[in-house]
Amino acid sequence: MNVDGKHFRTVWVDKDEQPIVKIIDQTKLPFAFEIENLDSVESLVSAIKNMHVRGAGCIGVTAAYGMWLAANQSRGSYSQLESLASKILEARPTATNLSWAVKRQLDLVAKNKNENWITLTLNEANKISDEDARWCNEIGNHGKKILYDIAKNKNNTSPVNILTHCNAGWLAFADWGSATSPIYCAHREGLSVHVWVDETRPLNQGARLTSWELANEGVPHTIIPDNTGGHLMRSGMVDVVITGTDRTNSYGDVANKIGTYLKALAATDNGIPFYVALPSSTFDWDTAEGGGDIPIEQRDSDEVMNIEGLNSEGKISSIAVSLDSFNYANYAFDVTPSRLVSGLITERGICNASRDGIMGLFPEKINN
Ligand code: MRU
Repeated sequence: MNVDGKHFRTVWVDKDEQPIVKIIDQTKLPFAFEIENLDSVESLVSAIKNMHVRGAGCIGVTAAYGMWLAANQSRGSYSQLESLASKILEARPTATNLSWAVKRQLDLVAKNKNENWITLTLNEANKISDEDARWCNEIGNHGKKILYDIAKNKNNTSPVNILTHCNAGWLAFADWGSATSPIYCAHREGLSVHVWVDETRPLNQGARLTSWELANEGVPHTIIPDNTGGHLMRSGMVDVVITGTDRTNSYGDVANKIGTYLKALAATDNGIPFYVALPSSTFDWDTAEGGGDIPIEQRDSDEVMNIEGLNSEGKISSIAVSLDSFNYANYAFDVTPSRLVSGLITERGICNASRDGIMGLFPEKINN
């Protein structure tokens, strides 16, 4: 997608400056656009932990390039490569894409130990990034049909109103995004759309990142406090909810940014379709039905106690929301049960959020 008219991927390498992984520092947006250089596994792990890069797909692509840094650092020792891989794996627990990408790289090296690991892992990371961008673009091509159908059935000229939560946009992937991709595809073709953007406390990925992306793409949108969606849905101001996911099991239970479950409940109560968009790299083929065994990251309570923004001197700064002496909890994700999900939008098409629906699109996983 474009930033001031220039195309960017969220993670990339510069051939002349190897071995360096380049990222867009998402903690500075929307106030400043800064590119950060990661030159070691340690700096890459810190960038993931501190959310300079975030979002399931983007974490996966970053981890894939992290394995290239690991190949550089391990100097031909497979046990050293494995130990650097486990550092990357521990960076954040919920998004499946991270372990998916690290495992893919480790398996590749294990099968080709006699080849040059640095070249192997760099090529594979580029492939994972390209795949992620292509899959997200396909999600858009399938998902835009939902928006066209809504527009056709609306008996007025108002735009299709989509509500989204957190940031499942291009910043959360290599390009395009998952939840935003249908919106970008339809909007580029001229369909009239408007997006309600949940601000998404505590870190405000909606207010800071999704709105910035939508503005760059010229998509009309409005930022709302997280607790507004229910009112908008009851008032007929939302036609469809589309979110992303950090991990979805093969039964269609969806782990996503905290607060997603409440939006799904409100959508169901109001008969509003609630779709979840994801590339196949976000499926967790192993966890049990119900999603009870999906690890839910708990982050530092400081993120809840404080809020970050631009101060009167134009600097990004943080102020306390309440008193230091109070108690805070910071669950970063929740699980929305499949019964509240109208459908999953994947690179292979749209399916029911059920084992049968998912296996219909991914039959090769039936005996997984
Ligand atoms: O904690 P984050 O910002 O990494 O959370 C991930 C998300 O942005 C959302 O949960 C998103 O909707 C799914 S990731 C594509």
